[in-house]
Amino acid sequence: MTSLRPSGRQFPADFLWGSATASYQIEGATTEDGRGPSIWDTFSATPGKVLNGDTGEVAVGHYHRTAEDVALMAAHGLHAYRFSIAWPRIQPTGSGAVNQKGLDFYSRLVDQLLEVGIDPVATLYHWDLPQALEDLGGWPSRDTAYRFADYAGIMAKALGDRVTIWTTFNEPWCSAYLGYASGVHAPGRENHADALAAVHHLNLAHGLGGRVIRETLGEDTQISITLNLHVTRAATSSPEDLEAKRRIDAVANGVFLGPLLDGAYPAEVMADTAEVTDWSFVHEGDLETINIPLDVLGVNYYATGLVRHSDTPRVPGDGTPGPDGHKSSPQSPWPACDDIEWLPLPGPHTAMGWNIEPEGLTELLLELHEAYPGLPLAITENGAAFHDEVSADGRVHDERRVSYLHDHIDAVGEAMDKGADVRGYFVWSLLDNFEWAYGYDRRFGIIRVDYDTLERIRKDSSYWYAELIRTGRIPTVEQATELG
Ligand code: FCB
Repeated sequence: MTSLRPSGRQFPADFLWGSATASYQIEGATTEDGRGPSIWDTFSATPGKVLNGDTGEVAVGHYHRTAEDVALMAAHGLHAYRFSIAWPRIQPTGSGAVNQKGLDFYSRLVDQLLEVGIDPVATLYHWDLPQALEDLGGWPSRDTAYRFADYAGIMAKALGDRVTIWTTFNEPWCSAYLGYASGVHAPGRENHADALAAVHHLNLAHGLGGRVIRETLGEDTQISITLNLHVTRAATSSPEDLEAKRRIDAVANGVFLGPLLDGAYPAEVMADTAEVTDWSFVHEGDLETINIPLDVLGVNYYATGLVRHSDTPRVPGDGTPGPDGHKSSPQSPWPACDDIEWLPLPGPHTAMGWNIEPEGLTELLLELHEAYPGLPLAITENGAAFHDEVSADGRVHDERRVSYLHDHIDAVGEAMDKGADVRGYFVWSLLDNFEWAYGYDRRFGIIRVDYDTLERIRKDSSYWYAELIRTGRIPTVEQATELG
């Protein structure tokens, strides 16, 4: 397997190399030490929601293996580790009293990271909403945003002396549209108006929470949010297809970038979705609250998408999996887009069925740089799932993953050469883990986890990534098998 792009690109010495995980995907121990139930516990326990009936009950046992996992991180020479905090460990019902044992767990993790010289980059919300808050209405309810701000304040006080970057949300697109429109993620609701209300309340929670963190910790604290911005192309240059792309850009990206960075929802989004909602959930003053200064914008990137106008409108609930670069969904995640069709993209594809197109990442970073020139960027997730096997020599020769990382990291470098201010790159993921609706069936780790014994085995990509961190230079794909 060869790479499509040259090796050897040198990155600046202060470029931050990291890896990322998320609480529900790795921790397990879902009923221990006072943790309350999250929407993902409920969702994954519901038959038919997660492939093979998998749940995060054990996951990769990280809750009891933090020392081992931090040692593995140190073995890579990681500069930073992006992890998320499970809100239901901190406030089991999403509000009120703090569960000290939950705080202690993350406090110990942060100390262990600092001991080996790894910067802790904490995400406050990577999808595991306390179930009690969903029972009160979840993200379509405005109150959830205020509860999030309380929780952000608790975490800032507890860890603020040691955490370098605070990320409020991971991919609010997924929380809103996959959670409340297509229903393929927890809590599994299917209502487009609710999804748009969720979008707004997630934005609002970012602003409220970010403010509390700054008030608690002072102006030097770094605040960020991570978005999965969509790189979508029109199938042809016909006005109808270009219009389809414009609408997807607006409802996928504009609804977040607009309020977060420009202080307004794009007028086009409100017009495009007028048949679904009147946006009366946006109250006076909300946009000022949301539009706090960002120190860094996190960018998650995996693949691109292709759309065209369709004369045969999609029938909601027709069971057709959409090749939309995301999880296949019986209900469309996209409000007011039933006349837009997602087309399959040419390969190669990963085990998720996502196309591999590193150029999309360069394009996205340059577009962001052009639109928001002074805003530092970081790739907070990028990586690939493949059905890895352990070879007779006991190693995992995951050359397709190495090749994917090689080409995407080079694409980041290309964007930097062309002017984008990219400060860091976090590979998704450190470990194989619970891949949401796909359970344990899709492996994204640079470290393999044996799901029977929870044994960790470093894959070739892990040795390759460590070498990249050591030298700051992209190794060849072939080197991966020689290292380690
Ligand atoms: C992203 C999520 C992350 C992981 C990757 C593959 O959407 O943030 O948790 O599932 O996709």
